[in-house]
Amino acid sequence: MISQKSIQEVFGVAQVQDLIEEYVSLKRRGVNLIGLCPFHDEKTPSFTVSPAKNIYKCFGCGKGGGPVQFLMEHDSLSFPEAIRQLAAKYNVDLEEDSKEDSEQYAEQKKLEESYYILNKWAADHFIYNLHNTQDGKLIGLSYFQERGFLAATLEKFELGFSSDNSKELTDKALKLQYNETFLKELGLTSKKGYDFFRNRVMFPIHNVAGKVIAFAGRTLSSAKSQPKYINSPETPIYNKRKVLYGIHLAKNSIRKKDNCIVVEGYTDVISLVQNGVENVVASSGTAFTQEQVRLIKRYTDNVTFIYDGDAAGVKAALRGLDIVLENGMNVSLVLLPDGEDPDSFIKASGNAQFENYVAENSKDFIFFKMELLMEEAGNDPIKKSKMIKDIIASVAKLRDPIKRSLYVRQCSQVLHVEEAILVKEVNKQIRNEIKQKELEKVRLERQQKREAERGYAGGNSPADTRPVGLISDNVSPLSEVPFPQEAGLGEHGVDSYHELDFFPEEQVNHQQQDFRIRANDYQEKDLARIVVTSGDQLIQLDDSEITVADFVYSNIANIFPFFENELYKSIIELGFKYVESDGMSTGVTQYFINHQDQKLSSAAVDLISSPYELADWERIHVYLNQKMPEKNFFDDSMQAVLRFKLKKMSSVIDKMKKRIIEESGNEETTARLLKAFRQLQLEKKELAEQLGNVIS
Ligand code: UTP
Ligand code: MN
Repeated sequence: MISQKSIQEVFGVAQVQDLIEEYVSLKRRGVNLIGLCPFHDEKTPSFTVSPAKNIYKCFGCGKGGGPVQFLMEHDSLSFPEAIRQLAAKYNVDLEEDSKEDSEQYAEQKKLEESYYILNKWAADHFIYNLHNTQDGKLIGLSYFQERGFLAATLEKFELGFSSDNSKELTDKALKLQYNETFLKELGLTSKKGYDFFRNRVMFPIHNVAGKVIAFAGRTLSSAKSQPKYINSPETPIYNKRKVLYGIHLAKNSIRKKDNCIVVEGYTDVISLVQNGVENVVASSGTAFTQEQVRLIKRYTDNVTFIYDGDAAGVKAALRGLDIVLENGMNVSLVLLPDGEDPDSFIKASGNAQFENYVAENSKDFIFFKMELLMEEAGNDPIKKSKMIKDIIASVAKLRDPIKRSLYVRQCSQVLHVEEAILVKEVNKQIRNEIKQKELEKVRLERQQKREAERGYAGGNSPADTRPVGLISDNVSPLSEVPFPQEAGLGEHGVDSYHELDFFPEEQVNHQQQDFRIRANDYQEKDLARIVVTSGDQLIQLDDSEITVADFVYSNIANIFPFFENELYKSIIELGFKYVESDGMSTGVTQYFINHQDQKLSSAAVDLISSPYELADWERIHVYLNQKMPEKNFFDDSMQAVLRFKLKKMSSVIDKMKKRIIEESGNEETTARLLKAFRQLQLEKKELAEQLGNVIS
């Protein structure tokens, strides 16, 4: 492991302009530099580099970050790889965390390196066989030729042939002094010392960087006793769940086309690439994994699965695709005519017709599922209700509420089921999921707390809220008034609170809805923005100083669970922890920009590079009266905190009203609720007054 100190040192010296100029030609525009974005196709430059902030940001595709993110994104490097590369460029001597760790790390790297070398040698050996031995030519090469693979294609995919001679590869390797243990570990040699792949055409499997990590060997015999393909065993460099066949060749094209085609077979990939369709990878016959989705998500949010049109293909489609939806990706599906696979289809029809077919027959996954299940269910009411549950499960996985409501509307039309019923069903599923997540979080927090108690004494625990400045924290309307459960906020206070924003149960039109969703984010976004831009600045209180991050955090800690945007929430939490920790070696802004978690770093870049949004009358009012933000930390943070509280308060009060009306038959409850209600209104008024004081 690279030591934290060295990582900070690299952050300190790496210059984004310096680095990016090696890749992109940049022109000066004002204080910034501008050029053509390397991450998407564009003719007019929208890729902006700010040397002062040491960040880049593309206003076309939205990608942004610091030097480390640039390398990770552009060259598909891991975080430590990017750090190492920058360290080399800027002559920083990297320190490893501890001698033991570093030795272990170096050892592991050396081992991996040896594996790569040996695999590469084996791949070359199979290639040699294919072109230079009698069996290779007669059996392997003629097979590939029969399938229509051109010489350039064989070369591109490094296809080869393994001899039928039982020890050919092993003997040759040992003669060249390659390590026998490694041969066995990689699965090239069996435990008993024989070649593992025999008399098969060989498909090397590569990682994203293009290194050979494993092999698949296809038999040419039609004997049923033999599996068609055998694969290398899992090794430290080969984890099936993480592999997409062809990704090393496809990644740039996936990024450019902003779409990734997924097929099932090795030969499908090869055939499509040979015919000019380059943004294609194979899942290799198994169900799609979370890891594979994440790999694709590095390059695009859009996935098109192409399956055979037979029953097995359809089943495969229904099997693994929810996982892709869950990751916020757009999934479409193309079924080929019965009996065709992508390989046979493109061979028969050619590139243009293939692309046409894909464009015309590409179906949104959820609609596809809907049509298919509907056909199956026919008029059977039991089957039909099961089917609706099934479809709703997919819809509930969508993260975007606007998309969700569009789907629900469509489903309602196609299925002839009332929209309201579907909405309810979706909300129920989402609530369940949130509840699960909340439970998990509570469990984790408890565990962390226990560990912390054991680990160190006296630390500044984030739950420690102190009354600060104008806000009286002893009055904590959202947690201390005994209303959240009564107001229908549920056991954890969170679930029905969220419910408000899952879906406008009263049907608002889309524009309004869009506005609502974003409007709810403003307050939270502001708080996150303040923490990122000036969390480490000091605020002067009457008799002490505290950091802005501390101020923000302490003042909202008791209503933290009501935060809706998880990302902003973790930014505030992390920012607070960072500025309060001893090891703070860069400013909080740089800390976020260079954060290892790409989601955080790109959110941070967005927060510091987008202008304040003047979106509703309240904000216009606020900002017209405001001095430059960032200059006035106290007022700025105070306003943000108050507006956030006010917003939360208003929506709880709304809920409360509804609840009081619902309970109007029950006197005792009503009285209690009314009392809480008045208390809330009082506090809301106080908050509003405070806000008024700060603004004027
Ligand atoms: P296919 O049987 O469609 O193979 O299996 P294919 O690649 O199209 O091969 P050809 O066209 O018959 O030469 C699809 C994928 O499933 C995996 C492989 O990844 C294959 O590419 N598979 C299939 C196996 O791993 N083992 C098997 O025995 C069969
Ligand atoms: Mn095939």
